[in-house]
Amino acid sequence: MKYFTLNNGLEIPAVGFGSVLESDVANFEEVYENAWSTGYRLFDTAASYGNQIALGKWLKNSDHARKEYFLTGKVAQSEQGYEETLSAFQKTLTELQTDYLDLYLIHWPKEKPFFETWKALEHLYDEGLVRAIGLSNFEANHLDRLLTKAKIMPAVDQLETHPYFSNHVTHDYLEKLGIQHQAWSPLGHGGQELTDSVIKSLAEKYDKSTGQIILRWLYQKGVATIPKSTNTNRQKQNINLFDWALTPRDEQLIDLLQRGERVMGAPDENYSADRW
Ligand code: A2P
Repeated sequence: MKYFTLNNGLEIPAVGFGSVLESDVANFEEVYENAWSTGYRLFDTAASYGNQIALGKWLKNSDHARKEYFLTGKVAQSEQGYEETLSAFQKTLTELQTDYLDLYLIHWPKEKPFFETWKALEHLYDEGLVRAIGLSNFEANHLDRLLTKAKIMPAVDQLETHPYFSNHVTHDYLEKLGIQHQAWSPLGHGGQELTDSVIKSLAEKYDKSTGQIILRWLYQKGVATIPKSTNTNRQKQNINLFDWALTPRDEQLIDLLQRGERVMGAPDENYSADRW
């Protein structure tokens, strides 16, 4: 595994495991244990995914040492606000059966309370209950507003990012601010960009899968990813990215696929909605 170093010195795995929902699979614990055996050590979840209890049970049953893995959680929209976030965090710890998180994010920007939510995250960080704090789905306008009051610079921003929506403008802004970009839905929602003809021709050229081509492209751009697969072979592929490279020209060929096509509504459309 390769790591990116966050602005507070914490190392984050370059590839983590995206959240599998209990409703998606009959063998939840087996899927996660396979991911563990394959080498995944970052497990991403969120209060709104409804899988924290199952994840906590697996972690308890599997008996993996806590310091061996990295857990990311997210504050749901309905949990935003200072006191609300502090109690949501406790609930998340209880459900995950742990006494700290490695990374805690605000899931979506929500205009009124996000300053208060951020203050709660800063408090949790100061108390040593979370090793890094960050954001998800915050674009430049949301970041600029948050930073007028934030005492701690966010360490991570987790954003929709895949070839058809490379989010390059926000990426460049994050780079300037020293915030690590992490991609959700890196393969396009449901893996829909895996069949793109440019990606397919590159997969043939490098003798890799289309998923590997996309994930390597993101890694070369300095973007951390959390691909999700319930299949052991594909889990293996998605982590085998580090002993080969795309040429700069091939990287640019994927850059050119950008067409501003989101798989979910823009963050501003979720701004005041209690969607998550
Ligand atoms: P599977 O679990 O059968 O591997 P999402 O965008 O919701 O995170 O979903 C990712 C989708 O991409 C899943 O349907 C997953 O299906 C599929 N997938 C993940 N990795 C690969 C890969 N390397 N090749 C093909 N499909 C993949």
